[in-house]
Amino acid sequence: MPKHKEPFNFHPKTIIEPFKIKAVEPLGFTTYQERLQILKKAHYNLFNVRAEHVLFDFLTDSGTGAMSAEQWAGIMRGDESYAGARSYYAFRDAVHGLTGLPHVIPVHQGRAAERILFSFVGGKGRTVVSNSHFDTTRANVEHSGAEAVDLPMRDALDFAKPGPFKGNMDTAALKAFIKERGAKNIPLCVMTVTNNSLGGQPVSMANLRETYAICRANGIQVFLDIARFAENAYFIKLREKGYADKPVREIAREMFRYSDGCMMSSKKDALVNIGGFLALKDSVWAEKARQMLILGEGFVTYGGLAGRDLEALAIGLDEVLDEKYLQYRLRSVEYLGNGLRKLGVPIVEPPGGHAVYVDAKRFLPHIPPHKFPAQALACALYAEAGIRSVEIGTLMFGRKDEDGKFLAAPMELVRLAMPRRVYTQSHIDFVLEAFAHLARGKSKIRGLKVVWAPAALAHFTAKLGPA
Ligand code: F0G
Repeated sequence: MPKHKEPFNFHPKTIIEPFKIKAVEPLGFTTYQERLQILKKAHYNLFNVRAEHVLFDFLTDSGTGAMSAEQWAGIMRGDESYAGARSYYAFRDAVHGLTGLPHVIPVHQGRAAERILFSFVGGKGRTVVSNSHFDTTRANVEHSGAEAVDLPMRDALDFAKPGPFKGNMDTAALKAFIKERGAKNIPLCVMTVTNNSLGGQPVSMANLRETYAICRANGIQVFLDIARFAENAYFIKLREKGYADKPVREIAREMFRYSDGCMMSSKKDALVNIGGFLALKDSVWAEKARQMLILGEGFVTYGGLAGRDLEALAIGLDEVLDEKYLQYRLRSVEYLGNGLRKLGVPIVEPPGGHAVYVDAKRFLPHIPPHKFPAQALACALYAEAGIRSVEIGTLMFGRKDEDGKFLAAPMELVRLAMPRRVYTQSHIDFVLEAFAHLARGKSKIRGLKVVWAPAALAHFTAKLGPA
């Protein structure tokens, strides 16, 4: 057989959804008048809106994907034995096969892996460095008493400027930081692939390799936060020199060579609705993690999951590395990003692997940060079209300083995170029409004010009203 056998006898431009649909769910249709009432009752906080009142839900790509027929078959095959279940071994072998890491510990979701790890790696006086900690990772580091420091490459915060690997660590800053803080105070470096907090941007293999070499030379362990590892691996194939002809599975394996362990939220790139794991080399750390696991999650062969969850997870880890799937996945996010750009809607450039981030600061310049422009845009998008997104701006990250002075967040973004294998191209075309409508009437979008907010993680429960 020829090596590069083409699938078709022509060159299609359309990248199709590489699946057909076996079970369907109705979309939540509501009227404009109903949504105005729903928004008011939800205090202009989309976390308070019932999912059945949402037409397209881009709140998150976490746990919202569709499983395959094979995964549903795995659900039926799940072994629910308390200890030593066959499903655990299927899961363990899948994780080991992918990562090469000897100790594999199941948990119920990503943040459980973080809580367990930082319970003994963190603590007062210690610092964890990262290209960018995800919110829960940062919260778990800080909860342990340690400090979480982000060292992203400089361009990452220039949202209008495209670049192939804007998820990278600033390795010069890393070296300087280690020198200043002292390597003995830094037990761990976390590389988040892709970098969710800064636009779902990928990290290059060269950057993973260099970061690992720096950390190794200083006795610092490197863990990958691999929630979206397959998307990152496919970006490397598309964008990094020397990887175009490598199977994405091999690229993923190479990523793990530049690490001592990983944390996984399986709700993303393991294509399941719940689950996670911690995998690592260090036997002493692994033993400590297992003790914590038993304390909070469950026995070492199920870790808070049912056997059926482990079975579906093992299958998902394999399916996610299918290149037809990954091509469709990145292409569909890019399709949304390109469409928005054409409408003149400013986005974080380039579109990420799992989401497009609309830059509300540039889209709604008439709304100042203290009137929550990104939240105002998210609410308008829901009111006009029934589309749910999430604010990453002053509602999420705004603070007050010691004198009670208001401090805005550095960004005002609206994230449209794409669930995996759920929506089709016509759905995205509808979203683009909704944005075209919003863009025409954007000067009419008004700011919001906070009526009530709790002390921490305000964005989940805060109550707002028109400013
Ligand atoms: N790490 C990254 C990079 C994440 O994006 C998430 C979750 C976690 C860890 C925590 O995993 O939710 O399974 O406990 N991100 C979701 C999101 C919530 O919407 O981006 P979890």
